[in-house]
Amino acid sequence: MTPGLLFSPIQIGSMALRNRLVRSATAEKLCLPDGRPEERTFDIYRRLAHGGIGLIISGHAYVDPRGKCHAQMMGAYDDALTPALARLAECAHKDGARIALQINHGGRACDPAVVDEPVAPSPVAAENRPVPRELTPTEISELTAAFGRAAGRARAAGFDAVQIHAAHGYLIGQFLSPLVNHRTDHYGGSLENRARFLHEVARSVRRAVGVGFPVLVKLGVSDHTEGGLTVAEGAEVAGWLADWGIDAIETSAGLQGAVQTRITRPQREAYLLESARAVRHYSPLPIILVGGLRSRPVMEQLLAEEGIDLVSLSRPLIREPDLPRKLENDPEGRAECVSCNRCWPRTPGEGIACKRKQGEMGTPTA
Ligand SMILES: Cc1cc2nc3c(=O)[nH]c(=O)nc-3n(C[C@H](O)[C@H](O)[C@H](O)COP(=O)(O)O)c2cc1C
Ligand code: SF4
Repeated sequence: MTPGLLFSPIQIGSMALRNRLVRSATAEKLCLPDGRPEERTFDIYRRLAHGGIGLIISGHAYVDPRGKCHAQMMGAYDDALTPALARLAECAHKDGARIALQINHGGRACDPAVVDEPVAPSPVAAENRPVPRELTPTEISELTAAFGRAAGRARAAGFDAVQIHAAHGYLIGQFLSPLVNHRTDHYGGSLENRARFLHEVARSVRRAVGVGFPVLVKLGVSDHTEGGLTVAEGAEVAGWLADWGIDAIETSAGLQGAVQTRITRPQREAYLLESARAVRHYSPLPIILVGGLRSRPVMEQLLAEEGIDLVSLSRPLIREPDLPRKLENDPEGRAECVSCNRCWPRTPGEGIACKRKQGEMGTPTA
């Protein structure tokens, strides 16, 4: 039997990873009001690292208090947060994992109970959210600088990389989307203009972290909504990222994210593969594929045949933080997670947790 690629090492910029398995950013919703992680967050990162994952991407962290998405979100908006972030990095490093900080601004998607006056490229409301205020060009450059400062804190805290969140309908995704961005200045209209904010953020982040430090982008390749960003447009943006100093792309989609349910058969896995294929066509960068990866044979096939460089998982690692070790020991191994989406916290302070009992809702089938 061929050994497969999943457990072979890979290098992204200065970051050496022990395998091709990534914990996709997952907001644990377990932070204190000032954005510092609670003890339970550190436990989650310890268990993930111990379970054998190559790279942990943190839950999204707000770069500015006005971009805080929800009350329990992690913060990276102030130097006072750096020691807590350093503890998080230590939890990953202690067991041989690498860690990236995902940096974000929620824009119009911020909880209005948390942010007084949500802002966005244009005054277009998201579902169940108030009409946001349109950002001025001066505010846009302030936010660009805030992304850079947050990235600098990640580096100072000992993180191995940063990931810019440009997906799931948050601020950068709002700029990219023609449904949300109705601006008539040089941040709106053409694809190049809608991508200008991402370009400026990438430049600011690179300036802050210096040459060689890995900068990743999680890119919403399409909005999955009529009239929104198309796969062709998203793939074109992906093609620009290498020139903008980005080291790897995690491909995602959807103005609300793409978290499909009932991934119980191999045929339902890798549900975002089509957009990753489009990105592969335009970009030479390493591609990290997320979305419904559940079994080792499917992962191996993606790495061997589809030009995918790493695979990224969120929900399965909530249920089984030691899934990487299990897959390493079993070429036919698969996650227990059935993608029922009941791990999202419903009440403040609950945090992420798998709520599916053993044997409930059937067993994943081959
Ligand atoms: C509880 C939960 C929290 C998430 N938080 C984030 C986040 O902070 N940033 C992000 O980019 N994606 C986030 N996602 C999306 C995941 O990273 C991933 O893209 C998606 O769940 C699909 O992967 P999966 O099928 O392996 O779960 C979250 C998903 C879940 C289930
Ligand atoms: S509740 Fe458990 S089984 Fe359901 S999606 Fe979340 S981790 Fe998977």
